Amino acid sequence: IHNIIFDNSADGSAVVAKEIADLIKEKQAKGESCILGLATGSSPIRVYRELVRMHQDEGLSFSNVISFNLDEYLPMEKDNRQSYHYFMHEHLFNHIDIDPKNVNIPNGTVTGDAIIEHCLDYERKIKEAGGLDFQLLGIGRTGHIGFNEPGSHHNSATRVITLDHITRVDAAPAFLGIDNVPRRAITMGIATVMSAKRIVLLGWGPNKADIIKKTVEGEISSQVPATYLQEHSNCTFVLDKGAASELT
Ligand code: F6R
Repeated sequence: IHNIIFDNSADGSAVVAKEIADLIKEKQAKGESCILGLATGSSPIRVYRELVRMHQDEGLSFSNVISFNLDEYLPMEKDNRQSYHYFMHEHLFNHIDIDPKNVNIPNGTVTGDAIIEHCLDYERKIKEAGGLDFQLLGIGRTGHIGFNEPGSHHNSATRVITLDHITRVDAAPAFLGIDNVPRRAITMGIATVMSAKRIVLLGWGPNKADIIKKTVEGEISSQVPATYLQEHSNCTFVLDKGAASELT
């Protein structure tokens, strides 16, 4: 893991948005699709805002982009304001020229046996698209990436996961109480994330300092799933001073 530390999240987000834009343009020049793995939550919001600005002010086109989001709550309706489907459209997809049929987000409305089929299909689609060129990540206080909570195996693929209590506590304000937070989610697996050619993890603020230290400096362990990233050959953590404050 290579760390880059910025004074603030705005500066770090601008650099990450520029890297994504450059990759999209490089692929465009070659007539190729650009396969992006995307995250939700507070961490990537400024990156998406900057990408929208580049689309509006600089003509950055997303016409060759195929996106795969990391996760979605289960059960969850698409038009629910707490859904990651809603979040992605609100913060990014409604404001750019991505082809709606190139947008992939795990479907929180599937039930029963259809869930397994849906997860297998998600993996298949990523492979058919040619694999993830770039994966954007945030990190949860449990050390989750996507919703790969403690205990996740390094070989895990897209699947249903039971959310950790801490994750549900952190989500409670958005859901107006922990009882309203779904207990499960569909998430890309550790192996799915690790298959990306390039990974950038965003960490902002002192709340993340402890888990960033464990992830970067601790032993690789399923108890802190983000530590698996130590084994990726092209992974950068983009941090602000707060999130980096406990690194030695
Ligand atoms: C979201 C996701 C999660 C978040 C993590 C941090 O798609 O996969 O791993 O990145 O929970 O959330 P924030 O950015 O809100 O602190």
